[in-house]
Amino acid sequence: MENRIYNFAAGPSMLADEVLIRIKEELFSYNDTGMSVMEMSHRSKVYLEIFEKTKESLKRLMDIPEDYEVMFMHGGATGVFASLPLNLLKNKADYIVTGNFSKKAASEAEKYGQVNIIYDGKDNGYSLIPELKDLSFDQDADYVHLCANNTIYGTEWKSFPDTGNIPLIVDMSSDILSRKINVSDFGMIYAGAQKNMGIAGLAVVIIRKDLIREASKLTPSIMDYALSCKNDSMLNTPSTFSLYVLGKVLEWLEEIGGLEEIEKRNIAKAKVLYDYLDNQGFYLPHAQKDSRSLMNVTFTTPDPELDALFASQAGKQGMSNLKGHRLVGGIRASIYNAMPIEGVNRLVGFMDEFRKEHEQ
Ligand SMILES: Cc1ncc(COP(=O)(O)O)c(C=O)c1O
Repeated sequence: MENRIYNFAAGPSMLADEVLIRIKEELFSYNDTGMSVMEMSHRSKVYLEIFEKTKESLKRLMDIPEDYEVMFMHGGATGVFASLPLNLLKNKADYIVTGNFSKKAASEAEKYGQVNIIYDGKDNGYSLIPELKDLSFDQDADYVHLCANNTIYGTEWKSFPDTGNIPLIVDMSSDILSRKINVSDFGMIYAGAQKNMGIAGLAVVIIRKDLIREASKLTPSIMDYALSCKNDSMLNTPSTFSLYVLGKVLEWLEEIGGLEEIEKRNIAKAKVLYDYLDNQGFYLPHAQKDSRSLMNVTFTTPDPELDALFASQAGKQGMSNLKGHRLVGGIRASIYNAMPIEGVNRLVGFMDEFRKEHEQ
């Protein structure tokens, strides 16, 4: 596509060209209605069809069992950091802290109940995912919370702990739809949409039905899971356009072969970058090998000034947003589902030129 660059942003991030083209085609008049989806009533027949289709294709793609509910919420993943304890934290909960967002989720929950931080990776600079055998859970906890992919540090859980009867609740904001998972291993999965699910303004919550109970009395109606389910995510006006974009992203994923295919592509893309990083001595990867994320690849050059130069020179060559998060510095290449392998190959080519120019 003309004028398109490779956008390595951590979120909001790149959308597939195919998705943007379809949205463009339908922007002024959706399906001969003479109006844009942006202008439609959320209660109209045509919009309700979009809504249902989106929900159904998410269920198909992720193979979501019947005993799970899909909810579309406001407030992004940060909104869920609060709604989760308001709905599910009756007594106490275990939180695993492997990065900034899991820490934020725990701090939010602390406002509403007892939170036990059963692991905190700050001593290793959040460069790894703990070994499952080293984790133990409070058998009386209402739930265990973790973040599947640590967007800032570039680490990702490869497998998840077996928490027995305690529901495992996972923030998948930055790796949902990137690989096959078994939904029934989790009590609840949630994600902000602006990485692999489309655009900002929407959070998706997939929750086992038996966990939807009475929320704390203080819970704002808009965060109440039982109310949300009862109203099929339309207690008020939902994020209509974000939901429509999610539908387009899901359609594209189904067309290319679903999660099996995208997982293969994601493994192949990440391999190109990590293989390169492992065979040179100029760039230093942040994440430890067995904890590496398929979505966010983090590394540094020998000098913060070179990091900045790297990001700015790459930007001039059509590869944008490579500057690392301020908490870790360095460089971060976010290679979500929509990033084509060509973008990764181009980046590695640039990395090698930059290395040759600056290595001493
Ligand atoms: C893993 C993770 N969790 C939560 C968030 C916060 O998401 P939101 O901005 O939708 O509240 C982010 C944002 O980047 C994230 O990467």
